[in-house]
Amino acid sequence: MSISIGIHDLSFATGEFVLAHTALAAHNGTDIGKYHVGIGQESMSVPAADEDIVTLGAAAAAPVIARHGASRIRTVIFATESSIDQAKAAGVYVHSLLGLPSAVRVVELKQACYGATAALQFAVGLVRRDPAQQVLVIASDVSKYELDSPGEATQGAAAVAMLVGVDPALVRIEDPSGVFTADVMDFWRPNYRDEALVDGQESVNAYLQAVEGTWKDYSEQGGRSLDEFAAFCYHQPFTKMAYKAHRHLLNTCGHDTDQDRVARDLGLTTAYNRVIGNSYTASVYLGLAALLDQADDLGGRPVAFLSYGSGSVAEFFAGTVAAGYRDHLRTKEHRAAIERRTPVDYAGYRALHEQRLPTDGSDHATPAQSTGPYRLAGISGHKRIYETR
Ligand code: HMG
Repeated sequence: MSISIGIHDLSFATGEFVLAHTALAAHNGTDIGKYHVGIGQESMSVPAADEDIVTLGAAAAAPVIARHGASRIRTVIFATESSIDQAKAAGVYVHSLLGLPSAVRVVELKQACYGATAALQFAVGLVRRDPAQQVLVIASDVSKYELDSPGEATQGAAAVAMLVGVDPALVRIEDPSGVFTADVMDFWRPNYRDEALVDGQESVNAYLQAVEGTWKDYSEQGGRSLDEFAAFCYHQPFTKMAYKAHRHLLNTCGHDTDQDRVARDLGLTTAYNRVIGNSYTASVYLGLAALLDQADDLGGRPVAFLSYGSGSVAEFFAGTVAAGYRDHLRTKEHRAAIERRTPVDYAGYRALHEQRLPTDGSDHATPAQSTGPYRLAGISGHKRIYETR
């Protein structure tokens, strides 16, 4: 009998501030219906000047280490597309902030929003090789588009940490997996830019094409039939995208796309993304967190995942929710992470959006704005300096 490997624990963190879409709409004269209904977003997390993917990733992972210890962790995989260094893995800073043992390998993975799913699948492979080991997967991103661009309403920031090991308390990852790659320029961020470039409509089409491609491959790999799934967790750049994707999948499979069915299949997965915004690599796993935190008992039921990363790479796979998973959730902490954010007005958000760290090697102390457990204290001689509270 094959061993059961999957997500043993899941915890997330998000930014210090929150911008309501009503404030953005008031600034740019957009009908709020476009944001609330058209793209399905209510607000977006905005990181403080002293937060970045490292502080968010460490804040997400700290509760996992506090609960399980680190003695079985021999690998940390940090997935991000808002990388802070071309050479050093952001996970090495997290390793240090969390006080993990030196006998651990740490690496960073990138393929747009898909990176965390690659990390999860690689983690499953490592655990299969040595079931005594656990892998800490961290997905952490700050989504940033140009001010006054169509993408601006789809920004956000969050990190998800997942502990992967045998006999998972939350979700067992199943073997069949459908994968898809296509060379498209729908969304990209050259090394010299802070903000992503995007061809919005092309990106939506590329995502839908990837849904079809992954499903075809998943079926050919002997995957489950569509009707078996209790729920569908999609990558959610904006929550309406999950609805578009699911309708497309149902159409592709010759199923009806009535509103009730679509809402039943994925409605619960959108609760956190709707108020956090796009968190790139973390997005699909925030969808899982929202589902597990809200659904009636899903123990023993299969859940589908569709992970899409622009450029593009995508994967469709399934997980079976573990019996008794509700005893291991962090629902209270997740809700608190969302509720503790301080609202910013449009001017405050714009100032945060425009702030940059110096690139000339000079000393710079960041303002102490964040209240989380870790902060970016500044930069000196091109080196980032982190602090634990
Ligand atoms: P836009 O041009 O501002 O918006 O860009 P639109 O005109 O397409 O309108 C959006 C929807 O709002 C439409 O509905 C309108 O009808 C509706 P749809 O036709 O799509 O069903 N609408 C209204 N609804 C109600 N009341 C109203 C109203 N007005 C209009 N008053 C776009 C939208 C998403 C393209 C833009 O925000 C963007 O470029 N975002 C960034 C790119 C993105 O998120 N793409 C998603 C797929 S790619 C992906 O997921 C990967 C990614 O996460 C990155 C990665 O992988 O690394 C982005």
